Amino acid sequence: MNLKIREMRIQDLATIVELERQIFIDAWSEESFVSEIVSNDYSFPLVMEINGQIVGYAVIWRYADEMHIANFAIHPEFRQRGLGKQFMRYVLKEFGDARFAFLEVRRTNEAAIRLYQSFGFRTMQIRKKYYRDGEDALVMVKDLRNNK
Ligand SMILES: CC(C)(COP(=O)(O)OP(=O)(O)OC[C@H]1O[C@@H](n2cnc3c(N)ncnc32)[C@H](O)[C@@H]1OP(=O)(O)O)[C@@H](O)C(=O)NCCC(=O)NCCS
Repeated sequence: MNLKIREMRIQDLATIVELERQIFIDAWSEESFVSEIVSNDYSFPLVMEINGQIVGYAVIWRYADEMHIANFAIHPEFRQRGLGKQFMRYVLKEFGDARFAFLEVRRTNEAAIRLYQSFGFRTMQIRKKYYRDGEDALVMVKDLRNNK
């Protein structure tokens, strides 16, 4: 198995946008991904692939002493085999020079919340009705000085 994590490219977007629509009800548009790749200097969009197939993607914003996990997903057919963990481990190591890592997650997204908690993320705040459909968001933070 040849597993690789690399920068996202424009050529990846047909696959990523399709996955994004399948995974999230409030999916990012193709234009959003393009601007992350092309014009946001603070953005690091990544893909995880196995034998050339995209099995996950993430968008990381890195500014000042913070990193923000703006998007993070594993292909539905490749879940629960440790890839999410592996991807998160990579991200926290790669951007580990930041002081804090932040993210928002839907309150009912148990799989993601458990993954984040297992890496030491803690709920800092609840943003009421943060999502368009009215669901609350948990704002989670990890102090990267305690990174393991
Ligand atoms: C959250 C997500 C990235 C996890 O990816 P994954 O590759 O399945 O995760 P892993 O196999 O590495 O599992 C890591 C941990 O996550 C948790 N987890 C993963 N799937 C779970 C599930 N269905 N139910 C409960 N916990 C789950 C567990 O704590 C697991 O650790 P364990 O296996 O030691 O119990 C994946 O479910 C996903 O892409 N979900 C849709 C997109 C999404 O919600 N992204 C986050 C937006 S904030």
